[in-house]
Amino acid sequence: MSEDKNKMAYLRNTWYVAAWDEEVKSGALFSRQLLGEQVVFFREETGRVRALVDRCPHRFAPLSKGVLCSNAIRCAYHGLEFDGEGQCTRNPHGNGAIPKAAEVRAYPVVERYSVIWIWMGEEANADESLIPDFSCMDPQRFYVAKRYLHARANYVLESDNILDLSHIQYLHPTTLGSDDVSSAITRVEQNDDTVWSYRQTVDEIMPAFLYDAMGIPTDTRVDRWIDVRWNAPASMLLLAGAVPTGRPREEGRETTLPHLFTPETETTTHYWFSFPIPLEMGEMGQQIAEAQASGLAVPFTLEDLPMLEAQQQSMGDNEFWSMSPVLLPGDAGAIRARRVLDSLIAKEQQARSA
Ligand code: FES
Ligand SMILES: [Fe+2]
Repeated sequence: MSEDKNKMAYLRNTWYVAAWDEEVKSGALFSRQLLGEQVVFFREETGRVRALVDRCPHRFAPLSKGVLCSNAIRCAYHGLEFDGEGQCTRNPHGNGAIPKAAEVRAYPVVERYSVIWIWMGEEANADESLIPDFSCMDPQRFYVAKRYLHARANYVLESDNILDLSHIQYLHPTTLGSDDVSSAITRVEQNDDTVWSYRQTVDEIMPAFLYDAMGIPTDTRVDRWIDVRWNAPASMLLLAGAVPTGRPREEGRETTLPHLFTPETETTTHYWFSFPIPLEMGEMGQQIAEAQASGLAVPFTLEDLPMLEAQQQSMGDNEFWSMSPVLLPGDAGAIRARRVLDSLIAKEQQARSA
């Protein structure tokens, strides 16, 4: 735990997204900073993904500068080798005895829903059943158009942004929003540690780009819903759809849009989003998914990202609550999620100091 009250503590006992599955390639080392720590990933010969602290315990060279020798990393500096458990398995020096302290921390990792998940807390608590349901990205059933963005903003600002979609009227007036968004009917629900933020517009004209995705003729007046599920630390699923005004939701085409955030540092974030589409839609489906993901990337990159980064700059090193933010009705979901996250972190800190 940080001594500085302005400094943020991370939730440790939770599954963070570390990478898209395809970012960690066979035969290569992949290094990424997560929660302020550099982690190196690789695949064993069976394809199983492993994650180690990216720092050799000898002279602290990054292991990711080394080479992968079947199931172990050989440090580039003096050749010590470490397996997927972080154990030193070879010392090429002297009589080859392996020093007791020659090990690095290994993190539990799970590859599921097209994503590599990492557990950076107590290893004994790493329960795979705690990974939130993103079966809409199960590669056996869905083609997943994947995108990644790097944001110079805190990860909780990112989840605030998704949980309060009233901003789409102002920040995305021509791409995702409309004049009717901020007057939508909203509701927040909490089931255990899962927060749902529901948003329903009525009798709305949407931006042209969205009619294609919804399968509705352009300029039809619609009722649109954008529901967001949040799980700690910042793993979110958007469910968006529309029907001609007055028609039941069941007649609409609902799209699932995962948004996944992991802190790189306190003020920078890894951001993965995707557009999944059922495999049975074939090659045409893949083209649609890629076009939609690229379409969404435009406002996310040109509109959200600069705003999030400007917010972070404006906040500097100050902690969010210490700045006494003004609260609006649309903030209810984001505030609920912040409360859940803060209480989970506080519980961990209490457990640690007990
Ligand atoms: S720094 Fe890795 S073997 Fe020396
Ligand atoms: Fe946005």
